[in-house]
Amino acid sequence: MTKALTPVVFAGHVDHGKSTLIGRLLADTNSLADGRLEEVIASCKRRGVEFEPAFLMDAMQAERDQGVTIDAARILLKSGTRQFRIIDAPGHESFLRHMVSGAAEASAAVLVVDSSEGVREQTRRHAMLLGLLGVVRIIVVVNKMDRVREPQPVFDRISAELKTLMADAGLETHAVIPAVARSGEMVVRRDGEKGSLLAWWAGPTLLDAMEGLPDEAEAIERPLRMPVQDVLKEGDRRIIIGRVESGKLSEGETVLLSPSGQTAKIAGLVAWPDDAPTAFGPGDAAGFVTESRLFIDRGEVISAVSSPAREGNQFDARLFWLADHALRQGDAVHVRLGTADALGEVLKVHKVSDAGREGVVAQDEIPTGSIADVTLRLRRPVALDDYRDDPVTGRFVLVEKGVICGGGRISLEGYQDQGAARRAKASHIHYFASAVTRADREQRTGHRGGVIWLTGLSGSGKSTLANALELALHRRGWSSCILDGDNLRHGLNADLGFSPDDRTENIRRVGEVAALFAQAGMIAISAFISPYREDRDRARAAAGEGFHEVHVSTSLAVCEERDPKGLYQKARDGVIKEFTGISAPYEPPESPNLEIDAGSQPIEICVEQLLDYVDRNFRL
Ligand code: ADX
Repeated sequence: MTKALTPVVFAGHVDHGKSTLIGRLLADTNSLADGRLEEVIASCKRRGVEFEPAFLMDAMQAERDQGVTIDAARILLKSGTRQFRIIDAPGHESFLRHMVSGAAEASAAVLVVDSSEGVREQTRRHAMLLGLLGVVRIIVVVNKMDRVREPQPVFDRISAELKTLMADAGLETHAVIPAVARSGEMVVRRDGEKGSLLAWWAGPTLLDAMEGLPDEAEAIERPLRMPVQDVLKEGDRRIIIGRVESGKLSEGETVLLSPSGQTAKIAGLVAWPDDAPTAFGPGDAAGFVTESRLFIDRGEVISAVSSPAREGNQFDARLFWLADHALRQGDAVHVRLGTADALGEVLKVHKVSDAGREGVVAQDEIPTGSIADVTLRLRRPVALDDYRDDPVTGRFVLVEKGVICGGGRISLEGYQDQGAARRAKASHIHYFASAVTRADREQRTGHRGGVIWLTGLSGSGKSTLANALELALHRRGWSSCILDGDNLRHGLNADLGFSPDDRTENIRRVGEVAALFAQAGMIAISAFISPYREDRDRARAAAGEGFHEVHVSTSLAVCEERDPKGLYQKARDGVIKEFTGISAPYEPPESPNLEIDAGSQPIEICVEQLLDYVDRNFRL
């Protein structure tokens, strides 16, 4: 699966001929799919326009827009000795997006400059941004050399200016090349379709220069990092998918998930459309299944247990700000790291400098187009890296209303790894097996231990059912206990509210407690709204065997009409926020073990239904 592909970012102003240059490269190296070039030439003829290589890019863009090609922004270029992945990044925003997800491993860039315009603000910004994100090796193409009257002196002047600029931005100029992308001169061939204008140039063509770039072997040498994109459900199978950004992912390996801290052994690799390989490398779209069940969401990072990703909710950053308004100390920010999204704030602005020009701008607000050193604090810990350790997972972007409005690199100097602190707390911990077995206990009580998990809206009748069940069980000498939402929220869970995160934590704790009671041989009857499917699944996993999900499916209309605690009215009046059914979601079970509608039948019937179920499933 792992191919020797050198990723190269193409940056530059559209008007400077970037599309033409890429189209030209593809056409003249025969990198296009069979018939594609002919197709575009024929279509030009039909429309009566002269063929331009940029049309190739347009055609590919159109395909991309229709979603025909999955990832056409990553174009493959084949030359005799090498393969390149061309990453076309039209603007700052798309460039940042690619750098943080997708083109992340690129460490070389081709920057296109128009000969008649020379070095301008745009070019400076591009250079600063490339430097900031660690793309240090630059090839500059001075394009449209057919437009200037005295090409050689003009090129020499621009070339000198560019080299100074690159050095200032901390970049290494790999080559500066004069070219005419339209005719193909100095792109792949030395002369153009209409003769040779640049015969005086003794340096490399663009392709020569690209072939001279060092091989990208670094990413695979680094420790494994794979941000999770999604978890696919295929029957009982859960396939974790994402892109390997660094290192290698192999079958049989034990991996760590950050920031959740779970570990798992990789049971098998999954790939599309090819057969499963034995390992994935940087740039590969990867999928795998684990031996044990994990509770995992988009945004977690997979790493090797031996060299884990770091964790934290605060870091220093050098960032590039693009939005049309200034960013200030104290402002709320939406930070995206790989596939993880987190809300936070600008804790401190340390230094601001203008990316287009030199010098430091002394203020605590960051105007458009400037670079700043800041400290960011997030509301929750995430997996991250120092950019010096891993330039890919050490990058982030800032998002506003779905649009990327900045990005930068992370410095963790002076910060403690919160993951390490947590791992230290949890090390040297072992399971011990109780001398009294489950079977011993069951023999004594005459019934199985387990969990009856009642889920449903507030006011659906969960607590009433739980109470009736417990009384009936007690009368026959069975051993049971009730875990009830309202009750536990006075003690064990008194620190939790009703935000999605708090509800998840509420159910996590209750799930663990219920499992302990079940292990002790009791029937734990739990009555919680537990609105999220994932949370209930986690409770099921905690209990192991003997977990029974009962959906108390009384309709919202009935619950609201009964409104036993007057809470629905308060929720409608806006006094209670995030109220389940009104202003917060409820995800009904897809296949509950039992469904009881306490709205359309008397409660006595419902209790009988439940008792009957418990009898059938718990009596020895
Ligand atoms: S859960 O969503 O986290 O499972 P839980 O069952 O513990 O909720 O608590 C639900 C009870 O808390 C409700 O029956 C109701 O009495 C009370 N409550 C207070 N505020 C809310 C709210 N915003 N949403 C739902 N229930 C609430």
